[in-house]
Amino acid sequence: MLLKSAVCVAVVLLPALIRACEEPKHCAKNEQFCTTREKFRDKCPCTCAADLNLIKCCEHQKFEHAECRDLCTYDPKNELKIKKLSIKCFNDFFKVQYCSSNGHSNSTECCLKHGVTKDSPDNPGCSVFCEVKLPKCSRTFEYLHCARGKQLAIGVKCARDNFDRPKWKANAEVNCAT
Ligand SMILES: *[C@@H]1O[C@H](CO)[C@@H](O)[C@H](O)[C@H]1NC(C)=O
Repeated sequence: MLLKSAVCVAVVLLPALIRACEEPKHCAKNEQFCTTREKFRDKCPCTCAADLNLIKCCEHQKFEHAECRDLCTYDPKNELKIKKLSIKCFNDFFKVQYCSSNGHSNSTECCLKHGVTKDSPDNPGCSVFCEVKLPKCSRTFEYLHCARGKQLAIGVKCARDNFDRPKWKANAEVNCAT
């Protein structure tokens, strides 16, 4: 009897816990396309909620250069775009950071657990971008390495996984810290 009710509870509850999105199975199965394919995002808006949120947030920020909005993606290949646009988008970068962290939501715990370097006053660490903090303007260049390789990949993954509901504001005043 006890076993039977336990099975019952599991059968009723488990799918609800595992399947947060009521979307065709192929959505969750191909989640990686959320970052790269607009059509896939349109078809699987729940699975791709974090990606859609990032794009929408960037649309609602004032960018100095419109093309810097191209950096608003959780695509791991973003590294190449950052490289190409790093000079032009220097001032817009903090808006990208604001939106990709969903309005400066704190994902430090995930970042540190997965090997992002810890930030401290005398050691520029990439965890600053996972936290609700911004690097000092005078030291921004010391953080450039964070936009590459493993540091970028982990940070981006943690930020994407951290999304629950939109927490950003339109036209947010974000810049490096003075
Ligand atoms: C962000 O989270 C980390 C780890 O949970 C915590 O130590 C830190 O104080 C938080 N930062 C802010 C600005 O809330």
